[in-house]
Amino acid sequence: MEKSKVGLVGLGTVGSGVARILLDHGDRTARQAGRVLWLEKAAVRDPAKPRGCELPEGVLTGQIDDVVNDPEIEVVAELMGGVDRAREVVLALLAAGKDVVTANKALLAAHGPELFDAAREAGRTIAFEAAVAGGVPIIANLSQCLSANQVLSLTGILNGTCNFILEKMHAEGVPYSEVIAEAQRLGYAEADPAMDVDGTDTAQKLAILAHLAFGARPDWAAIPRSGIDTLDLADVRMAQQLGYTIKLLGVAELTPVSQGVGGLQLSVGPTLVRSGSPLADVPGPMNAVKVTADAVGELFYEGPGAGQMPTASAVVADLIDTAVGRTRLTFQTLKLWSKESERTPVADPSDSVARFYLRVEAADEPGVLAQIAGALAAEGVSIASFQQHASDTATVPLVLMTHATTEGAAERACQKIAALKPVTSQPVRLRVLG
Ligand code: NAP
Ligand code: HSE
Repeated sequence: MEKSKVGLVGLGTVGSGVARILLDHGDRTARQAGRVLWLEKAAVRDPAKPRGCELPEGVLTGQIDDVVNDPEIEVVAELMGGVDRAREVVLALLAAGKDVVTANKALLAAHGPELFDAAREAGRTIAFEAAVAGGVPIIANLSQCLSANQVLSLTGILNGTCNFILEKMHAEGVPYSEVIAEAQRLGYAEADPAMDVDGTDTAQKLAILAHLAFGARPDWAAIPRSGIDTLDLADVRMAQQLGYTIKLLGVAELTPVSQGVGGLQLSVGPTLVRSGSPLADVPGPMNAVKVTADAVGELFYEGPGAGQMPTASAVVADLIDTAVGRTRLTFQTLKLWSKESERTPVADPSDSVARFYLRVEAADEPGVLAQIAGALAAEGVSIASFQQHASDTATVPLVLMTHATTEGAAERACQKIAALKPVTSQPVRLRVLG
């Protein structure tokens, strides 16, 4: 049988999973690809480090150039992570005539246009199923299976580390700082886990999905975002009492464009989701994406979003698709990250409409509630419900749920509330889904 020689750059959590599938299941990948996917070389930083897989003699190298300059390697999976060096490596691989598979959402979110232009110029392809939602085939679904639709909205749990941590915060009442090390040990977290917990990783993945689903080209760094690193356990408990579960969501919603207003609304942040709903029940490091589209209606994808083998599953599927030639067809047709694929403007985030949960810490004295209600009314924000628990301390938490309002009005009202004399800290403001 014909051989297609494969190179890996990176043999850490994901890379060693990919190597294991290629080495242990060569018969399966050969059947699917119609040729043997032969692991020729794997480049790492430190070849002396113990690896999670046994490699044949001569495969491991400490030099990325050994992969780039090997004329027999046809396709390379970039699994090293990071942005600047990874960008140089991918550009060098394309220039050397290799197709590229990557799991690196940070790289695509930062340099998608440059890398895809370079691939088109070199007549090569880039496949990236593993870059969003790990083992969940959301990239193939959005770019191929749903191509008859206009996607209207997309709501995702896109970071396995955060979902894993949030589950523990809800079930065991522990702060995120106590769970992060476990997420790292299990191979879910990024090399810099700050990117998981501050919402960066979710925003990068949302920017990629927004491009595929809506033809928007958002700057991921401009997507309004907050993470679970600032989430207080007090709000987890309050949300639970109100019948909600907090999830880190990335949301993209198409709004009609009229007189320069509207377009694609994007946001990332801890969000109150009705307990018992499918999104609220997504467990551990699982990811989920709810897609609403005009022809098909509502779809719900759920599965392992992080970790070695689920991510390796997506990378190897891309290697097989590349060997078969399927990647080439979609790559040529979709023209991703080119001007031709751009069709939806990104909307002003302050116009985004949502319900909000507000927690205000204030002195327990006459007239406080009236002042807070006044600040909300002044911005046209309507209160849907209100709770105050009796307390022996000098301040009490006041929890309010608003009716739907704009992000801008809610933010201005919170600034007014923060400036009130009896209010002791900046109000907590979280979105409520639906
Ligand atoms: P990792 O465990 O840190 O592995 C990184 C690998 O790249 C290591 O083998 C490392 O070599 C190698 N490497 C890094 N810099 C290098 C350099 N300058 N030269 C040569 N080799 C270099 O990372 P990972 O978790 O596998 O993640 C890899 C990529 O997959 C990232 O883009 C990540 O965002 C993405 N991803 C990860 C997951 C997940 O669940 N972990 C899921 C989806 C996507 P050494 O081993 O010698 O240090
Ligand atoms: N660190 C990422 C996560 C890996 O936890 O979801 C998958 O992209």
